[in-house]
Amino acid sequence: MNKSIESHHSDFIAVIAGHGSYAPAGILTNDDFTKMVETSDEWIKTRTGIERRHVCGKDESTAQLATEAAKKALATAGLKPEQIELIIVATITPEMVFPSTACFVQKNLGATNAWAFDLMAACSGFIYGISIAQQFIESGRLKNALVIGAETLTKIANYKDRTSCILFGDGAGAVVLEGRPRKKDEVQSGVIYSTMYADGSSWEALNCQAYGSRNPVSRPLDDPKKIYMEIKGREVYQQAVRRIVETVMECLEKCNLTLDDIKMVVSHQMNARIIESAAKRLEIPDDKIFININEYGNTSAASVPLAFDQVIREGKIKRGDIVILVAFGAGLTWGANVIRF
Ligand SMILES: CC(C)(COP(=O)(O)OP(=O)(O)OC[C@H]1O[C@@H](n2cnc3c(N)ncnc32)[C@H](O)[C@@H]1OP(=O)(O)O)[C@@H](O)C(=O)NCCC(=O)NCCS
Repeated sequence: MNKSIESHHSDFIAVIAGHGSYAPAGILTNDDFTKMVETSDEWIKTRTGIERRHVCGKDESTAQLATEAAKKALATAGLKPEQIELIIVATITPEMVFPSTACFVQKNLGATNAWAFDLMAACSGFIYGISIAQQFIESGRLKNALVIGAETLTKIANYKDRTSCILFGDGAGAVVLEGRPRKKDEVQSGVIYSTMYADGSSWEALNCQAYGSRNPVSRPLDDPKKIYMEIKGREVYQQAVRRIVETVMECLEKCNLTLDDIKMVVSHQMNARIIESAAKRLEIPDDKIFININEYGNTSAASVPLAFDQVIREGKIKRGDIVILVAFGAGLTWGANVIRF
């Protein structure tokens, strides 16, 4: 099922007013993994592009990372916490089963006028979050929203499974979206187009089965490994490439754009080879593709906003440039946002 959202019929446009990211200080290098599983720096680097990932200490949690990223996004937007009207946290590693991570962030920030909820769409969570905030802003219902992707995946990684544990890291990224009145016949910054997909029939490809209703932690698990993430990496590899290619092509077609109009494509960082082979099929030149998986690994919902924030901070996109954010992950879910920065 797909739902795409073209923004040009509304009275308001949702502008990226602020951005920020945060990663914990702890580092796990590829060499660290050679002490846990049979692997090598060379294998991890050549097969995934990952060199290191940031990792939480035992007292650090998802809401803390989310709060730090949010503070930076608020600062660049020039907004006080009380001015924020909605907080969405996209995550698959929430603070606890309930209440939501977003409520903890609301409390930490002192964002007393915001309503707040979590969104679970795995690696596509931030893309989904942008599209939801876009709706409320374009309708005029909200003036602004804080959209955060935050994960502590190292807490559910199985450090005995070499095919998955080497992939994941912790981090958070955030943007503030703000509504501006849409002006007729004027090129304006803002979210131009969002598209989201889901296919639950392939849920088994990527999952973590414990903690929920089907396998509550209060009951012994039939398989103790269910407390960890399980991924069938080889099975989803080709599908990830295909979905990214299709989604970017759809964005270009629906927005009447060519690759020449796009300054950067910021993909979810799941594997550098997946991003590079999608880029090759789309004939996107290297300088329009951003890769930071070498530093962070796969941080699921945090991955796109972490990369987006870095792209902005490094001056790789300027106001007025068009960027495509694209993601694929567990659910399965996938989608994209086209944004004039
Ligand atoms: C997981 C992934 C890196 C594996 O890379 P790959 O090139 O597909 O490698 P394969 O699974 O074909 O494994 C090749 C061999 O390396 C071995 N291997 C797997 N992990 C290894 C590791 N960390 N170190 C050394 N060898 C490893 C495998 O056991 C296999 O050995 P075999 O040929 O004797 O069976 C890759 O498939 C991937 O990135 N997939 C998508 C990731 C994903 O699902 N992300 C989450 C959703 S976005």
